[in-house]
Amino acid sequence: MSRYIGVQMLEFAQKGDERGHLVIVEGMKDIPFEIKRIFYIYGSGENVVRGQHANRESEFILINVAGKSKVRVKDGKGNEAVFCLNRPHTGLYIPPMIWKDMYDFSEDSVLLCIASSNYCPEEYIRDYDEFLRVIQEEYSGINGQSTQGRK
Ligand code: TYD
Repeated sequence: MSRYIGVQMLEFAQKGDERGHLVIVEGMKDIPFEIKRIFYIYGSGENVVRGQHANRESEFILINVAGKSKVRVKDGKGNEAVFCLNRPHTGLYIPPMIWKDMYDFSEDSVLLCIASSNYCPEEYIRDYDEFLRVIQEEYSGINGQSTQGRK
């Protein structure tokens, strides 16, 4: 299991038998939140970049149940990482307030997204500069002092 800026690759048990594989993802058991919403992304070309947003509230698990894609995550404090999703029994946990880009989709990619909340457009931050501003505000709030000029 790898861990980076709160983003974490989770490995799910494979309950396979001679009939094939079975992977179970239960809320508050295999993943750290109750499941409120699922959606899935497929048919995205290799040059498409999706996501390009951060969420104020929602947590996500991303699973490439078929094919592969990459996810770049940024915490707005100078840390970033790229994860390759290519195994249906692993899922990438993404906490709130992480900027995410999904890209490099294979033709057969089906990216399953499990979310901790129902869809609410207001909790999406789709402008990267705004994301940096919000992170900066939160950071200075936690430290109780101005962080102006800090990266
Ligand atoms: P978007 O968030 O841009 O997709 P992605 O992150 O995969 O690039 O969503 C595309 C459109 O679908 C946008 O108009 C919002 C809508 N949408 C919903 O209505 N409900 C949802 O749960 C999601 C994820 C998107």
